[in-house]
Amino acid sequence: MTATATSTPLLELQGVSKSFGAVQALSGVDFDVHAGEVVGLVGDNGAGKSTLVKVMSGIHVPDGGEYRFEGQARNVSGPNDPASFGVATVYQDLALCDNLDVVANLFIGHELVSGGPAGLVRELDEPAMEQRSADLLRTFSINIPSVRAEVGMMSGGQRQSIAIARALVGDAKVVLLDEPTAALGVAQTAQVLALVRRLRERGLGVVIISHNLADVFEVCDRVFVMRLGRIGGTYKIADTTPEEIVGAITGGQGTVRTRAAADAAAGRSAAPDQPASSSQEGIA
Ligand SMILES: Nc1ncnc2c1ncn2[C@@H]1O[C@H](COP(=O)(O)OP(=O)(O)O)[C@@H](O)[C@H]1O
Ligand SMILES: [Mg+2]
Repeated sequence: MTATATSTPLLELQGVSKSFGAVQALSGVDFDVHAGEVVGLVGDNGAGKSTLVKVMSGIHVPDGGEYRFEGQARNVSGPNDPASFGVATVYQDLALCDNLDVVANLFIGHELVSGGPAGLVRELDEPAMEQRSADLLRTFSINIPSVRAEVGMMSGGQRQSIAIARALVGDAKVVLLDEPTAALGVAQTAQVLALVRRLRERGLGVVIISHNLADVFEVCDRVFVMRLGRIGGTYKIADTTPEEIVGAITGGQGTVRTRAAADAAAGRSAAPDQPASSSQEGIA
């Protein structure tokens, strides 16, 4: 399901820079995500991951660089622009309303209304919203006891799934997730990662910030490593190792060695008589 290198990216950034006063949060960042692809964004605290995602979602307007969507340069002056192309963001803090039910949370801010022409009696079209909620949850196999249950009573995994589903109520093509499993236990993380895979199966492009390399290796096709506001490297998950990614995150400092570096040092491209774990020596 990995997107081919020849297809046009859904979302592409070229040479994006952003500073906050004296802090250069992003410098010359190139990024792309294709339809049917899950791209990971990793890096140390302060590397610029959240800032980059906020540029993608239009919350931050970059100082320089180009924003392209479906192959065309786009003018982005606020979050409404990416939203109109089909870029949906799921925020780190979930931002669900605990005292409201699933339907109300899914449609908050873009409720369906029924009734006469503008100016006459218009009311919320609860049956239509309830139906669309149920359809959406079924399409993405999200298990919720009832769409009329308050979300405050639900598990972390269910809540994160609802937060992601909310991004899908509009017809999203790209979904941006900032640390979607940070607050979740093992079973609930698995639930959210399964949902991310279903987004990919449906042809969406997914960008996922994560501190957890196990999650990244489980669900991503490619990973961008950010370091001090720049892209330190891009790796296909099938062709890399967690050790290599850790090395890229830390800039190869200290004692971290990668398989590629170990192999290069030993003058080999593959080592049939050498266990792969030998390349992990020295990792902190
Ligand atoms: N709104 C802001 N105002 C000032 N500085 C910011 C703001 N947002 C981020 N920064 C700074 O930009 C840098 C990158 O931050 P961030 O994108 O949050 O990194 P990450 O998500 O990788 O931890 C940090 O030095 C951070 O302090
Ligand atoms: Mg962050």
